[in-house]
Amino acid sequence: MVLTNEGEQLRRKSLEFLWMQNRDWVSMAEEGDPLIIEGGKGLRVTDSQGNSWIDVNGGYNSVNIGYGRTEIASAAYDQMVRMPYFPQSTTTVPTIQLAKKLAEITPGDLSRSFPVSGGSEANETALKIARAYHRRRNDNKRYKVVSRKGSYHGTTGGVLWLGSNPASPRGDFEPEYPGMLYGPQPNSYRCELGGTTPSECAYRCAKAIEQLILDNDPDTIAALIAEPIAVPLGSPVPGEEYWPMLRDICDRYGIVLIADEVICGFGRTGKMFASEHWGVVPDIMTVAKGIISSYLPLAATVVSERIASQFAGEENYLRHVFTSSGHPVSAAAALKNIEIIEKENLVDNAAKVGEYFKNQLMELKENHKIIGDVRGLGLLLSIELVSDRRTKMGFPKELKVAERLNQKFRENGLIFRVGSEILNIGPPLCITTSEVDEIVSVLDRSLGELSTEVHLK
Ligand SMILES: Cc1ncc(COP(=O)(O)O)c(C=O)c1O
Repeated sequence: MVLTNEGEQLRRKSLEFLWMQNRDWVSMAEEGDPLIIEGGKGLRVTDSQGNSWIDVNGGYNSVNIGYGRTEIASAAYDQMVRMPYFPQSTTTVPTIQLAKKLAEITPGDLSRSFPVSGGSEANETALKIARAYHRRRNDNKRYKVVSRKGSYHGTTGGVLWLGSNPASPRGDFEPEYPGMLYGPQPNSYRCELGGTTPSECAYRCAKAIEQLILDNDPDTIAALIAEPIAVPLGSPVPGEEYWPMLRDICDRYGIVLIADEVICGFGRTGKMFASEHWGVVPDIMTVAKGIISSYLPLAATVVSERIASQFAGEENYLRHVFTSSGHPVSAAAALKNIEIIEKENLVDNAAKVGEYFKNQLMELKENHKIIGDVRGLGLLLSIELVSDRRTKMGFPKELKVAERLNQKFRENGLIFRVGSEILNIGPPLCITTSEVDEIVSVLDRSLGELSTEVHLK
């Protein structure tokens, strides 16, 4: 651990030299940020001043096995000593083994993996494969992509324009990528099509996507991309009709169905992949985060044999290359990570402890009128705060609800950053019920204080 004084000097250097994601250095300086993290085990991390914290969201809902698993470090070390990279047009043992493993654990005929470094790259790759797939079959007019309002699929130039999130305006980066179409999101708490139950909302939203396709010439649409559960909207779980309907719509109009399992995959929702909840096999599945629990950068675009087979042969191969694609050190670490998820039954733990967590949050809702809704599946959970349960109205900006909560959580030892009135929770899958209780008791206290401050009794 660095000494307190050294820690402070380091913090100042970070404010001077480092461009941290989604933060600015002036407000960080005012808030005494950034924390400099030096160690971690399970859900807990330690900062450079020796303070211990609970990392409620395990990185970016990504450290699925928890911090401090030295087996991953050993697997990466062994591979780096043996062979740190590879010459052009060759591959390595762990990369092949990882591709085979992904074919085994992903549903249906998803069987060929293009490894990349992160979720955005995985989705960029999926879009390129979808468009190129149609061209390989002389279906040359297809380029448009359907996504859903409130979804997030990444930050790079193309996928940035999928979905939309009012909390992340895109004006700085215009013009928009051509061919983007936006459908509604099956969030039954606020169904934009008036559905009042998950089923009704799911049905109407899927039908609206079909209508969007019909209104925009189905023969020009290449792909539909969707997360099984969309986190920016507070993890609404779609009614069970929804995913089978999307599958059916894509089949009928010849559209490639891409399931973005970047956040939902690798056990987060209580199944290895969330698509399994509805028995749906997408044509392409993108995975990241939990594939390696964020110990190193890695993601993958997993493609069905039907689509991949169009890229076989000298004339047909996909012109698409990243220097870090197929990195053997990441592959070795990911294999060890998946082994830990399987051996330690972390998927079952996510289902069981997730249910316990959700029940605790529902109990909180009984006691705090400020909670409008609790939703989610497994260990992908959300609380939506409202000023009035009947109108479902949020809070005036000047009340600074998110800022107040951020401060309270920090005072109570939680690293749990809130950006809006939706509190998204996605801890490591190794969380125990007593750790859930610790988090819930801070939530209980903080929401009680907040209610008093904003005069909500
Ligand atoms: C559903 C989803 N897709 C894509 C991404 C982008 O992944 P990355 O940040 O690794 O580029 C994220 C990141 O949070 C995500 O949640």
